Amino acid sequence: MLYIGIDLGTSAVKLLLMEGDGKIRNIVSREYPIYFPNPGWSEQRPEDWYEQTMAGIQELLADADRSQVAGISFGGQMHGLVILDQDDNVIRPALLWNDGRTYEECDYLNNVIGKEKLSDYTANISFTGFTAPKILWVKNKEPENFARIAKIMLPKDYIAYKLTGVHCTDVSDASGMLLFDVKNRKWSREMCEICGITENQLATCYESYESVGCVLPEIADQLGIPHTVKVAAGAGDNAAAAVGTGTVGDGMCNISLGTSGTIFISSKNFGVDKYNALHSFAHADGSYHLMGCMLSAASCNKWWMDDIIGTGDYAAEQKAIEKLGENHVYFLPYLMGERSPHNNPNARGTFIGMTMDTTRADMTQAVLEGVAFALRDSFEVAKSLGIKIERTKICGGGAKSPLWKKMIANILNLKVDVIEVEEGPSLGGAMLAAVACGEFANVEEAAARIVKVVDTVEPDPELVAKYDERYAQFKEIYPACKPLFEIIK
Ligand code: XUL
Repeated sequence: MLYIGIDLGTSAVKLLLMEGDGKIRNIVSREYPIYFPNPGWSEQRPEDWYEQTMAGIQELLADADRSQVAGISFGGQMHGLVILDQDDNVIRPALLWNDGRTYEECDYLNNVIGKEKLSDYTANISFTGFTAPKILWVKNKEPENFARIAKIMLPKDYIAYKLTGVHCTDVSDASGMLLFDVKNRKWSREMCEICGITENQLATCYESYESVGCVLPEIADQLGIPHTVKVAAGAGDNAAAAVGTGTVGDGMCNISLGTSGTIFISSKNFGVDKYNALHSFAHADGSYHLMGCMLSAASCNKWWMDDIIGTGDYAAEQKAIEKLGENHVYFLPYLMGERSPHNNPNARGTFIGMTMDTTRADMTQAVLEGVAFALRDSFEVAKSLGIKIERTKICGGGAKSPLWKKMIANILNLKVDVIEVEEGPSLGGAMLAAVACGEFANVEEAAARIVKVVDTVEPDPELVAKYDERYAQFKEIYPACKPLFEIIK
């Protein structure tokens, strides 16, 4: 049988076609625009997601025996606010995960309602990208739109709705809304009240590997697939990536270097850190995870390469980098503000340490290292909880760079396991569909059978020591710049 994994990303939707034994048949990707209507705002049109997803499925299945398709599922950009009216029309463009406009609403949630209560109700505090402060923003700034809201959905759930007619979500993605009682895997009545909404306006929440129903007959006919094709709830892109990299069960780690950068630690048990610096979310395998999320990771490199130095040849630029662990230039990668662990939408990208002999290669190196140092900031929080991690998987566009993998291995002092298929969320989505269709007994079995480690990048103790010294300097830069970020707005 064949399974379709749909990764509804920020720059594009990526679709993957997998056989029941994990063999990849095809991968396609289709882009859509992102809009920044004001500084710090970030929006997309759900209609664009759907249009490109449908076109992508057609392209994906062009040479396949469509009668063999059995299941579809998702990984999706998290936290985005999609609002539908009572006829299920999209009311306004979606506010995305990296949108920083809800500064005041976060302040209200964290400081008036209070972090302690939020953490009690949801296991998390408010960050500007999360969904609940966005609902409050619409309530405060666009009351006419707020009054029309019949359903509140997350990005991938809008696609699942269009395919099945079911208003559904899953536990991992619901966790990022700040409306979900993560520990007990159900909606929080208190948070609904705080946001002025009812539970009826939220979708039905499933485990990621559960089927929510079959594709609608007219959609099945349009795609030429059987009417029996099941759609599984799927997962937020990081939990889906964790499935796709075999980061399931207890104490496993995955790093994703996509538009965002995340460090994801799976856990059998529910847990929260003292300051809620890491997100505490439900996992797609039925358990839990902790996660640190940077708002700009591979996107920093893309910005530096494409927009600033103007080259498409990333590999050539990286070839010129020779002095690992010895760079005196540092880069704070906060081009969209920062989430973990600083929770500061006003933080900004910053280069520091240049001299007359600084080269273009040093600056490129600083960008790559800055992302790795910032990931280490979140990793340090996990270590402070007594979590012991020795190795990690890695996925996302940035993971294609051998140099960046080496930097990650040495800056975080982790063995980096390279896997055969680094597709992350789209592969995870296809695996969740396969579990929903009974191809595997559970997500752990799917991961054990499908994910293969083909190489390991080992940290080198000498380089680890050099980078420890560099990290000690890096750590000082954000606190020193923080007061300036309040002025430079
Ligand atoms: C996670 C997060 C990002 C998006 C990117 O909390 O905000 O990783 O999911 O798609």
